[in-house]
Amino acid sequence: MTTNALITGWGMYVPSRVMTNDDLAKIVDTSDEWIVSRTGIHERRIAADDETTTTLSVNASRDALAVAGVEPGEVDLIVLGTCSPDYPLPATSTTVARDLGATNAAAFDLQAACSGFVYAMATANAFVRSGMYRNVLVIGVEVLSRFMNWKDRNTCVLFGDGAGAVLVQASDRPGGMSGFHLFADGTGFEGIIVPAGGSACPATPQTVADGLHTVHMAGRDVYKYATRQLAESALAAVRDAGLTMDDIDQFVFHQANLRIIENVAKQLDMPMEKTYINIEKYGNTSAASVPMALVEAVAAGRIKPGDQVLMVAFGAGFTAAAAVVEWTADPARAFLAPGSQTRLGRPQRQLEEAAV
Ligand SMILES: CC(C)(COP(=O)(O)OP(=O)(O)OC[C@H]1O[C@@H](n2cnc3c(N)ncnc32)[C@H](O)[C@@H]1OP(=O)(O)O)[C@@H](O)C(=O)NCCC(=O)NCCS
Repeated sequence: MTTNALITGWGMYVPSRVMTNDDLAKIVDTSDEWIVSRTGIHERRIAADDETTTTLSVNASRDALAVAGVEPGEVDLIVLGTCSPDYPLPATSTTVARDLGATNAAAFDLQAACSGFVYAMATANAFVRSGMYRNVLVIGVEVLSRFMNWKDRNTCVLFGDGAGAVLVQASDRPGGMSGFHLFADGTGFEGIIVPAGGSACPATPQTVADGLHTVHMAGRDVYKYATRQLAESALAAVRDAGLTMDDIDQFVFHQANLRIIENVAKQLDMPMEKTYINIEKYGNTSAASVPMALVEAVAAGRIKPGDQVLMVAFGAGFTAAAAVVEWTADPARAFLAPGSQTRLGRPQRQLEEAAV
C-alpha cells in the first residue's frame, strides 16, 4: 500500500503590532507611495519585546495540531524553516518542542532562507513516504525585525514577522504532496546576506558597530534572479507531479514583492484570481510567507478538497523551491476568518477581548 503525505492541520500567528509605511517614513527617507508602488506592501507586523521565533512558532503550531486533532506528544518530528532563529545554537525547533510539550519528537532547523518552508515540506514528505515518521510538524517562521538595519531603507521596508505551521501526516488515502523542485545556486550568496556573526566573519565590536549582523541586499540582482527562477521551479514541480499548469487551482507564492508575483504570473499564463496575495498586510515574512498565505487562502475559501495547490518560493543563497499538493482536508476544521489568525477556531480579536 502507498503511504501518502497529507496536510491535516494548519495554523498561523502574527504579532499584533502593526508598522505602516507611514510609520517607516518617520525613521528612514521613504514614503508610502514608493513602498506601495515598488512592492505592494502597506504594512507589516513586528514582534513584541517578549516574542521570539519560538513563541511565534508555538502559537502557529498549537493551531495546526488542534485542527488536525493531534496531541503534541504524538508528533514524531519537527522541521522548522527559519533564517532568524532564537540563537545560532541550539536549533529553535528544540525550544519549540519543549514549549509545545512535543516530548517524543525529533527536531531540527532547516535554513534555506525564504524557500525554507517549501524545502521543509519536501523533507517532511520524504520522512513520511519512507515510513520513518507518521506525524511531522512543519513550521515556517521569522522574526526578521531583529535582523534589520532600521537605518537602511533598501531592506527595512520589505520584511516582517510571522509564523505558519502545518501538520503532515502519513495516510493511505489518496492526495497530498505529489511534485517538487528544490534548487540552489551559491554563486548568488551575496545577493541577500547577513555578513557577520558566522565562521567567515565572527562577531566583533567592530562588526556590530558596522551593522554587519543585519540583512544586506542587492535588490536589483535579487529581482532579476527571482523573476527567472520562480517560473522555472514552478514548471518543474508541476511536471514532477505529472500535471500541467492548467491543472493548478491555486498558486501560493512567496510574498516578497507584488511586482515579482505579477511578472511570474504573466510568464506562466497564470490568472491572478487563482493567486493568493497578502503581501499588503505582512510584507516579506521570508520562510513564514508561504504557510501564512496557504492558511489564509484556505480560510478565504480559495482552497477546497480536491484542489491542486502549487507553492513556490525563492530566497537567499540563492535558493528556490516549489511543491504541488492535492488538498484533502475540510477547510471547516479551522474556523478561520479571512485575514485573522485563530486560537482553536476563534478569531484572535475575540480572545483578546475575552482576556481583558
Ligand atoms: C528592492 C526593490 C523593491 C527596489 O525596487 P527598484 O524599482 O528595483 O528600485 P531601485 O533599486 O531601482 O532603486 C531606485 C531608487 O530608489 C531608492 N530606494 C531604495 N529603497 C527605497 C525606499 N525604501 N524608499 C525610497 N527610495 C528607495 C534607491 O536608493 C534608488 O535610488 P537611486 O536611483 O538614487 O540610487 C526591488 O529591487 C526588489 O523588490 N528586489 C527584490 C527584493 C526581494 O524580493 N528580496 C527578498 C528576496 S526573498
